[in-house]
Amino acid sequence: MYPFWEVPFFTSGMVIALIATFHILPCHLATGAFWFIVYVERKAYKEKRPELLEFVKKYTLLILIFCFVIGSLSGVGIWYAATVASPRGISGLIHNYVWGWATEWVFFIIEIASIYVYYYTLGKIDPKSHLMMGWLYAWAAWISMIIITGILAFMLTSGKWVESGGFFDGFFNQTYWPQLLTRTAFMFCIAGVYAAIVASTLTKKKVRKELVRTAGLWGVLGMVAGVVFAYWYLHKLPAHAKELWIDQSLPYLAHLLKIAIIAYAIVMAWFVICCLVKPKLAGPITGIVILFVLFMGIGAGEGFREGVRRPYIIDQYMYGNQIVARDIPAKHIKAEVPIFEKDGFLTHLYFKPDKIDPKNSRDLLKAGELIVHHQCGNCHALDRFGKIRPLSKLLENLAPESPEDIEGFLEALGDYPFMPPFAGNDLDKKAASEYLFSITRR
Ligand code: HEC
Repeated sequence: MYPFWEVPFFTSGMVIALIATFHILPCHLATGAFWFIVYVERKAYKEKRPELLEFVKKYTLLILIFCFVIGSLSGVGIWYAATVASPRGISGLIHNYVWGWATEWVFFIIEIASIYVYYYTLGKIDPKSHLMMGWLYAWAAWISMIIITGILAFMLTSGKWVESGGFFDGFFNQTYWPQLLTRTAFMFCIAGVYAAIVASTLTKKKVRKELVRTAGLWGVLGMVAGVVFAYWYLHKLPAHAKELWIDQSLPYLAHLLKIAIIAYAIVMAWFVICCLVKPKLAGPITGIVILFVLFMGIGAGEGFREGVRRPYIIDQYMYGNQIVARDIPAKHIKAEVPIFEKDGFLTHLYFKPDKIDPKNSRDLLKAGELIVHHQCGNCHALDRFGKIRPLSKLLENLAPESPEDIEGFLEALGDYPFMPPFAGNDLDKKAASEYLFSITRR
């Protein structure tokens, strides 16, 4: 175990979630955008309408700024945040998918190089070569999505990997294809929405109307396909995820996210339909509102994906608190709960003050604090004023009258479908209970 990163009020997981939301919108836009751009550019050459190229230039510049500044910065941010929040989770992924990422980065470099060449050579080289550059970008970007979706899907459903340890067994798992197709459909929809916003700022009225309409059509088709694939995706979720979210063992959160996703989808559908039938309605102000909706909708959707993964951070393999959940013989990985039960959790915690010894009653609370930080802190806010599932408040609801009551709760922790079992020996359990009792609001 590595040192624990405590984020006051929030949890470290929420920091990743926040950065990720900023990342995912530019990412999906960057992957979908060039299919639309290449389509418009081809049309401009084929129908000999150079005025369409004004749009091509504007749209590409937006992608360059929005995706390659915000998208790149937030992408690096996710790596930093995830590395400190969940070093073992990241390590688990890297040990299996380092070549996946390396491949993705090759395509990412192609993306970066080709968009700059594309932007700066528009109108300066022959149309055929310029279009080739656009196609190169469009394919490279989509291939990077093909690869990264495999790693995201692996975290959600690790498939046959748990038995074989094989790269592709984890990659092409049960949620891979539905997730890839859902993302692909929504990437076309997002590209359409952005296109409508950019097109609405064009000066020539006829071109503006025509492009907003085409963008609306892309939006509608992407949306319809996205909803169909999303339904398939939900259907493919593992039983424990369905139990958790669909059969509502987490009623409050699940409802909130579901309502949010549906509400955002309705607003988006309204916008793309408007673009199609009444292109006049699309303008910069509606554009900004829609961007906000898109942002929130993506946040809710990804929140759902992260939520259904509980209690794991990597399905079947690693719990949200970074403890290995089961043997993976093919990878020589051993389940850690039995090990910690036998040796005690603190024995395996290398980054702890030397002096702390739970056997010494003066250290009991300190030892308990360390254990609780490590075993609960990835999902629960630990401070009194914490906002994300604050431990002291949740415990208060259970009205424990003594540390022994909390010990009983810890023993049954693994019975909750969304929480990992407590991993430690009797002394650890006692220390954790004493500490938890001491922070419970009474
Ligand atoms: C993988 C994430 C995760 C970990 C790790 C985790 N929990 Fe939870 N816990 C949850 C979720 C999700 C809920 C449901 C909260 C809600 O309803 O909003 C929850 C609920 C609770 C509740 C309320 C239970 C009830 O019946 O009302 C308590 C108390 C609690 N956790 C204590 C702990 C303690 C103590 C630890 C560490 C030993 C821990 N949790 C570790 C995710 C986690």
